Amino acid sequence: MMTKAWRMKEEGGIAILEFDQPDADVNVLNSQNLLELKHLLAEIGSRHDLKAIVITSAKDRIFIAGADIREIEKISSTTDALEKAEQGKVVLKMIEDLEIPTLAVINGACLGGGYELTLACKWRVASSSEKVKIGLPEVNLGVIPGFGGTQRLPRLIGPMKALSVILAGRVVSAQEALKLGMVDRLFPEKVLLKNSIQFTKEIVNRQLTRSKGRSSSWFLEKTPLGRFLVYRQAKKGILRLTKGFYPAPMKALEVIQKTYGREAVCGFRLESEAFAELAVTDISKNLIKLFLANEQYKKFPRTKTHVPPLEIKQCGVIGAGVMGGGIAQLVSDKGIPVRIKDIQPQALGSALKEARTIYDSALKKKKLKRQELDFKMGLISVGLTTQTLRRSQIIIEAVVEDMKVKEKVFGELSQITDRSTILASNTSSLSITRMAEVSRYPERVIGLHFFNPVHKMPLVEIIPTPHTSEEVLAKTIQFARSLGKTVIVVKDVRGFLVNRLLMPYMNEAAYLMEEGCSPATVDQVATDFGMPMGPLELLDFIGIDIAAKVAKILHEAYGERMKCASLMKTVQEKGLLGKKSKRGFYIYKGKKKKPNPDIMTVQKSGVCPSRNDILKRLIYIMINEATRCLEEKVVEESSAIDIAMIMGTGFPPFRGGLLRYADFVGAKNIVDDLKRFRDQQQTDRFSPAPYLLRLSEKHQTFYPI
Ligand code: NAI
Repeated sequence: MMTKAWRMKEEGGIAILEFDQPDADVNVLNSQNLLELKHLLAEIGSRHDLKAIVITSAKDRIFIAGADIREIEKISSTTDALEKAEQGKVVLKMIEDLEIPTLAVINGACLGGGYELTLACKWRVASSSEKVKIGLPEVNLGVIPGFGGTQRLPRLIGPMKALSVILAGRVVSAQEALKLGMVDRLFPEKVLLKNSIQFTKEIVNRQLTRSKGRSSSWFLEKTPLGRFLVYRQAKKGILRLTKGFYPAPMKALEVIQKTYGREAVCGFRLESEAFAELAVTDISKNLIKLFLANEQYKKFPRTKTHVPPLEIKQCGVIGAGVMGGGIAQLVSDKGIPVRIKDIQPQALGSALKEARTIYDSALKKKKLKRQELDFKMGLISVGLTTQTLRRSQIIIEAVVEDMKVKEKVFGELSQITDRSTILASNTSSLSITRMAEVSRYPERVIGLHFFNPVHKMPLVEIIPTPHTSEEVLAKTIQFARSLGKTVIVVKDVRGFLVNRLLMPYMNEAAYLMEEGCSPATVDQVATDFGMPMGPLELLDFIGIDIAAKVAKILHEAYGERMKCASLMKTVQEKGLLGKKSKRGFYIYKGKKKKPNPDIMTVQKSGVCPSRNDILKRLIYIMINEATRCLEEKVVEESSAIDIAMIMGTGFPPFRGGLLRYADFVGAKNIVDDLKRFRDQQQTDRFSPAPYLLRLSEKHQTFYPI
């Protein structure tokens, strides 16, 4: 017999429905448990002795995490999608139609379909715990709420606040949910159920009805002109955020705009139709697959050893530059004392200043309180001697990208640390194995590669060497996750994964410029594809000198195909280093930038390929290198490449990742174009990699179809 997901008990005439999905850590709404709920509600509806219904969850950190994403992923037709949305709506409508008071008790994640279920109740209460997260994040999966969220939330809290929640897929804390009117009461976690039942009794005995939420502004919400202005503003906001690449927020706005204040039945139907239209798009499928892969990477053990977490009393950082300073700020933000060492006093001062700037900005955005800021800044200490790092359980090296300097640092660290300290390097491209080999305990050395800016970029590459112990690998992964990062484990090859793929892309942009394209054209093609910034602007951001250094290391490691475009060298010789020198491919003045005419003088010819070929050259060169990485087992699977490129470089998520995009184009088409570019340019850098050729010949894809 199948175990039930819903349990019902009664207490003084109040029915308590407890949701507990069998054999699962989380509760999600699926066809089966919705049907079960439907039967239960039919039974409840026929009972005249019940005074109220309380809906709660048996899971510790979850109320209901949403509708089952795997079911949405499998939807193959709009008819199927429409049916699913309508089935959910029928059940929620049964809750709404119950004449007795209904109250949802939220403790933990209450998202998407889960929050929509609570919206069908007359009352919502939550615990004041930090684990409460409430919202309608459907647009992040390329769809809109399908169980009535676009209808009930605007009616509950007014269209302005509802738009701010739905269009951005915002997830809010219990306190913010209370402020917005998304829940009616907060109770301490320990007495949540007891107080909720007490509150339900009050509702029953005193016949309480919800007071109508006050609208944010009478003019903006209650008059047609006001609402027109609200919707126009919302549209502008969506376009600014999505650049037109993600249709779901616009669809949600359209549904709310057409239905707010009108008859409920029509609104519900329109919502289902819009949901169905979006659920079958490639964009939604890509975003869902990405979400699932991301969840997997968040918990993927990836190590053979299960070890107790690293207890860190102090984290050491060597090098107080851009990266060292950023890492120290992040570590302190997680409540860990951190000691930075540099050889230059002014670098230490700048690192402290930079950390302060990041905290100040969080303070301004009300994400941090003044006392928290003081406490966190107090966790960062600085010094010029290595000795003070002795007490650290993990030391992260972030000195200049020069093997001789790194070897010296690892040699010094061997003198002051013992077998219990993990020594990590943040190098972008140098051999971690080499650093391990100059250390006294090579098994304690590992790569821990953050991206710039450290507090914003969600990815970390972790690079074990053949000497690294499983324990050190497991503890470093735990450490990186405790800093809130997504981890991919990468083989110790030059450039690891992300820089090995990104460098050919930026280099190709430099070749295109050399041939005669303007920086604006090349960058525009990339941003029109969905990249957050063009490759030449990115080079300016990184620093052309730094990029050239990495390019040289990759050229030495991989040969001619990674040869740096000569334009990069010429540009550097002219002292054009990028944004930091205010002149690179562009000239920077305040927030504005314009193409740098000095660069145009180094172009070889005036012939620029078509926009289509520019895009193909930029993207296919990365795909080609990615197939080499798969073949060399730099990472184990295609999804690691896709996650890494999205989180490490901002590759457009709606395209599903580099290799999902490759599958969309087809290996054969990519190979044909690479061969064409190879013949046109007379260069082996476009020669298709053996694995890509095999896929093309066998008509195969990177992912199973
Ligand atoms: P940076 O040039 O901003 O800072 C390097 C710091 O190291 C300087 O403050 C310098 O005084 C200090 N230093 C030099 N020798 C030292 C020694 N023996 N002991 C202590 N401090 C010493 O460099 P950045 O950009 O922070 O890079 C550091 C490392 O991080 C490099 O390996 C780089 O490849 C890597 N990285 C850089 C990224 C970036 O975007 N800048 C991104 C990811 C990794």
